[in-house]
Amino acid sequence: MKNEVKNEVKNICCLGAGYVGGPSMAIIAEKCLEIKVTVVDLSEERIKKWNDENIENLPVYEPGLGEIISKRRNKNLFFSTDIKSAIKSADMIFIAVNTPTKNEGFGAGFASDLTWIESSARQIEEYAEGHTIVIEKSTVPVKTASIIQTLLDSKKNISVNAKNKTFTVLSSPEFLAEGSAINDLRFPDRILLGGDDEFAIKALKDIYKKWIPEEKILVTNLWSSELSKLVANSFLAQRISSINSISALCEVTGAKINEISQSIGSDKRIGNKFLKPGPGFGGSCFQKDILNLVYLCRYYGLDEVANYWEQIINLNNWQRKRISKLIVEKLLNTVNLKKIVILGFSYKPNTNDTRESAAIYICKDLIDNGAKLLIHDPQTTPSQIEKDLCRKQSLNIDEEINGCWTHTNDINLASFKSDAIVILTEWDAYKNLDWITLTNLMRKPSWIFDTRSIIELHQIEKADVNYWGIGK
Ligand code: NAD
Ligand code: UGA
Repeated sequence: MKNEVKNEVKNICCLGAGYVGGPSMAIIAEKCLEIKVTVVDLSEERIKKWNDENIENLPVYEPGLGEIISKRRNKNLFFSTDIKSAIKSADMIFIAVNTPTKNEGFGAGFASDLTWIESSARQIEEYAEGHTIVIEKSTVPVKTASIIQTLLDSKKNISVNAKNKTFTVLSSPEFLAEGSAINDLRFPDRILLGGDDEFAIKALKDIYKKWIPEEKILVTNLWSSELSKLVANSFLAQRISSINSISALCEVTGAKINEISQSIGSDKRIGNKFLKPGPGFGGSCFQKDILNLVYLCRYYGLDEVANYWEQIINLNNWQRKRISKLIVEKLLNTVNLKKIVILGFSYKPNTNDTRESAAIYICKDLIDNGAKLLIHDPQTTPSQIEKDLCRKQSLNIDEEINGCWTHTNDINLASFKSDAIVILTEWDAYKNLDWITLTNLMRKPSWIFDTRSIIELHQIEKADVNYWGIGK
């Protein structure tokens, strides 16, 4: 039954059981035992995985998540495809659905595709009863709350049933990073609440106050909250493109990127986070959110501002390509039929997410140039790699006469007669490999390409191998 007190929340529903919906609702369920939290999704397969008895089969790999799911699932945390019932009984609904970059039509390649935001709003309008607080958790373009409100109010004048429904829309974007989601959700730097309905703000604030100090809960207007999310991601990505650009300059001048990061990061005004060079940032959000910011700036006629932010993406694309090219160059200008071991495919460690991973782009380039790749990753499945590379796995790469790839669980076996090992993700498992043994197995001249700077020189100084480290 739906709760009738306007700002007392007993039932929460979350639309979208993805990387945000699953973990963020698990934390609410963990911290608010008196609230029933139901996470729903259109995908039966995803919900089935969330309900799998074997916690190893959850659709999202996130350290610490399995433990919370085991404790709260089917107590006050539920995963379901029954969207109608969950919306009907909810006092508060979080929208945590996907908002990818548009592929086609106006704004293609830049604007956010709001198809799933719109379908969420329509579902809520149809099934909700009484008063419902609707919260944007997805990352959305500024002003999306007004689109949601329009959809929620769309039948007010034509249907008696709709007259009895009222809605407040708030913005509360999510700032978790994958791989550290549980810690980020338990101890966030801040929570943002955007809106002007004081009852709704209080209701949401009361939930967060259960575990987050009040001074960390910032209340803003709707548009500041929506835009802050795009700006936060753009600033973070900007730092990565900045340090990556300098990594290239270090390589030609003899300066060392790690020393630069340390020296500039010691300045409190700059700070030491997000100054690690790499093969280019990945993940489902940085690129799409910057593209969205660029689109918004152009839409409002601010072309110089748009061009400024777009440069972050250009630099990121360039960094990935730069690495593919230098691997080919160092391997005597051809990788045709050469065996190359790839260590890491996810876009960062501690996640099974590969969306926009630099590994996808670099592997595709190497395969297009004829290389035979042996790909290792502690969490990414062969079927995911197959989807990302748009190529089937070869079961016997020795017999292939074109560029190809295969998945491997055994780094030693993969290294046998290989020409190069390329580290693309800094998983802990790669930090203390026995490089002497591995490099002895390789065909000479052999190369290690360390795009994440995880190897310390003493680990390989006695190995018979050429080493390229980013920014060194
Ligand atoms: P995701 O693709 O993993 O999950 C989204 C889910 O929503 C999918 O399972 C999809 O089936 C479901 N869905 C779509 N429309 C639906 C509907 N009408 N009803 C019910 N379910 C529906 O996406 P994600 O990574 O969780 O990201 C969700 C949003 O959060 C995006 O806007 C993203 O930018 C933002 N975000 C993501 C992260 C992250 O680390 N992944 C962090 C902060 C913010
Ligand atoms: C990022 C933000 O950090 C989150 O605050 C935000 O909520 C999220 O996007 C989102 O909106 O989806 P995430 O993409 O999960 O989180 O991971 P990050 O740790 O930010 O890393 C993103 C990419 O940047 C990775 O490919 C990582 O390897 C790369 N990176 C990060 C670097 O190359 N160098 C660094 O110093 C830091």
